[in-house]
Amino acid sequence: MVATRSDTKLVTLTIDGQEVTVPAGTSILQAAEANGIEVPNLCFQPLLRAWGSCRLCTVEILGSRGGLIESCAAPVREGQQVSTISQAVVEARQFILQMYLIDHALDCPTCDKSGECYLQDNTYLHNISANPFRRPKIAKPYVHLRETIDYKWDRCIICSRCTRVCDEMIGVTAITIAGRGLEAEVTTSYGVDLRDTSCTNCGMCIAVCPVGALTDRHFGHHPWELDAVETVCGFCDVGCTLNVEHNRGIVRRVTHLWDRGVNLGYTCERGKWGHEQVQDPMRLRYARVRESGEQLDVELDEALDLVAEKLRHFQGGGFAALASPDNTNEDNYTLQQFTRSVMGSNNIDRLITRSQAGVDHALLQSFGVSASTASMQEMRTDSHCALIVGPDIGFSEPVASYWLYWALRYRETQMILVTDDHQFLGDRSNRWIKAAPGAEGDVLNALAKIIIEAGLARDSAELSDLTRQMSSVDVDAIAAATGVTPDMLRESAILYATGGRGVHDGETEYPASTIWHTVAAGSPNAEATALAANNLAIICGHIGKPGGGVLALRQNANAQGSIDVGCHPDFLPGGLLTGDDTSRSIFAELWSQRWNESAVPQNGFKPLRGLPSDAGVGIGGLAAAIEAGTIKAMYISAQSHQWAAPVDPQLLAALAKLDFLVVEDCFNSALTALADVVLPTAMFLEKDGSFTNLDRTVQRVRFSVSPPGDAHGSTWHVGEIAGRLGYSLPSNNVSAIMDEISSVVPVYAGVTFPRLERGGMQWPVTSFGAEQTVYLSVGRGLAPEDIKIVAD
Ligand code: FES
Repeated sequence: MVATRSDTKLVTLTIDGQEVTVPAGTSILQAAEANGIEVPNLCFQPLLRAWGSCRLCTVEILGSRGGLIESCAAPVREGQQVSTISQAVVEARQFILQMYLIDHALDCPTCDKSGECYLQDNTYLHNISANPFRRPKIAKPYVHLRETIDYKWDRCIICSRCTRVCDEMIGVTAITIAGRGLEAEVTTSYGVDLRDTSCTNCGMCIAVCPVGALTDRHFGHHPWELDAVETVCGFCDVGCTLNVEHNRGIVRRVTHLWDRGVNLGYTCERGKWGHEQVQDPMRLRYARVRESGEQLDVELDEALDLVAEKLRHFQGGGFAALASPDNTNEDNYTLQQFTRSVMGSNNIDRLITRSQAGVDHALLQSFGVSASTASMQEMRTDSHCALIVGPDIGFSEPVASYWLYWALRYRETQMILVTDDHQFLGDRSNRWIKAAPGAEGDVLNALAKIIIEAGLARDSAELSDLTRQMSSVDVDAIAAATGVTPDMLRESAILYATGGRGVHDGETEYPASTIWHTVAAGSPNAEATALAANNLAIICGHIGKPGGGVLALRQNANAQGSIDVGCHPDFLPGGLLTGDDTSRSIFAELWSQRWNESAVPQNGFKPLRGLPSDAGVGIGGLAAAIEAGTIKAMYISAQSHQWAAPVDPQLLAALAKLDFLVVEDCFNSALTALADVVLPTAMFLEKDGSFTNLDRTVQRVRFSVSPPGDAHGSTWHVGEIAGRLGYSLPSNNVSAIMDEISSVVPVYAGVTFPRLERGGMQWPVTSFGAEQTVYLSVGRGLAPEDIKIVAD
């Protein structure tokens, strides 16, 4: 078992003459690797339980009671003397490899895995040039498990890494090992196509296969022909690190960096195959301009000239912009600056759903910051009890759900699920309360009522208001509506309040519990549900503790960063209020220097010296403002990819009434269909910058391949338009934009690209050199007066 933050007991042993100290429970293999001693292995996979089947990790325990042992499955012992390189070890490994090679296909020249196969590497490493053990080889054809995955039996070493990852991490158990001995094979139940099983197409079975048994059907290249770029996925707010391998301007595959990023190398379908969406032939390549009702392809310069010419007539509150929550921090900072400083409008928000906006608002009301207080990886390091609210995280943020399965299996975390969405977690968790969509908040309020009545709530100024609100909550009726007994609701409430321990006489302090909540695009009552979740965490005192807090899953890759950098009508970057004169003057001074008077067009358009003070219109009020004729022109930066949420139909209907609409997008969409000018935009694999994920981790997004045709990143488009209006944005230097963000957003003060090169950082990072913040607490991202119970 891997070490956790709470494992404090340490063990000292000697490996190859080197004294090492590691937490108790660490395997010899992990102890060796943590100290730079490599131990060959085939069936070991980080984070999965030790399997001990291949024996290649054999080491020798020295001394009279020693002998050969599988190091992946053997925990360290105090004072142990271990050799990973003794004669006996080397001979044992050579014998094991020769056994494997008896039946192995040895088709290395045509195998996809050649050059990165653990069996091939170890055959060279252990100097196996001949095999005294032989019998006729059995060859079998490829089995097409699904459209993305092939299986080749005669390369398989039955190490079960694929079936273990499917079961233990992904939680779906779509594949299994059937048969014994020479008949053993990786297959599905009854041999059906994987598409007809619970398979999520995450591709993790391919990723963990140490040989070429499970292969990527879409990949037909030699690994050594490829260049690799480490970047962050742009298809949800987990923010997985991806190793993007490409050549000749095309991404060929995505592979895994096991010790990197918030995902520790694990990916889902979006991370594994999403590059095919980025390289879809239907991507927008050229700018289009509407003429006589029809959109026609034009040169990009012509489209940008037209946008600048038109927008100069809408300077002021008649203009609005929507930033994409899938765009980088630098893109979004640039667009809000353009909207405020050039167009003179506070009508800037993100292209998000009403339910996402509701969750943002709920976080702001409860904690004074619109951000999750908890961290995803705390599920692995500190969790004792988790309350999971809303639709299937396994669909919306799959890699986040992996840590739930992991915590269930390895930390025995108590898990309470509040949703009626059928999901695999429900089948495995301790308690599943089937609340209908929109009724999750009622269940949370019932839990709060039980906790208050049991005397487990922390006293606070607003607790009496909440107690009064809870007087109308009928616990029995809610239990009946969700198909559980009132006792089960009571048990769940007590478990949550006591960090999974239950009430014990004389105990007043309990471990923390966490709440994870997600919302469907059209979820009713999203804000009320999020507020109920936040209230529950606050009354139980779970905020500001490891393994506690609230994690709000908001689905878009940069949903968090786009608020942080000021894409909100009420907030400037860093959360400063647009209505505050001092705050505005700070930004006005910084931004107004970018005007180039000689380039400003004439005829009414003015270089602004101050920033607008009027209250802006946000995503929720846009449709009405357009209908009322207050907003007449808009710039929308969209990323309408396969996993994007649909745009609110009311907003779409209103957009048709604008005098002028510019849409940046990567695909044709409902938005581009309405636009007067369409600008083709780059996707995350095609640009540099940063994203901030669901647990406040700021990470580097790196350019991997060029965008198609005339497509460019949003920063570039906006910079070009601003330039035509006499305003110079540093749109070609995203590192400089991040430096500016760090200088104006206090929680990003210590975030710079050079620091991000070493890995992501969770804000607040309050100064250059300061540590990141894993969970928010009073004084570390939260002000005591801002943590509030919100009652009706
Ligand atoms: Fe230890 Fe396979 S890695 S037995």
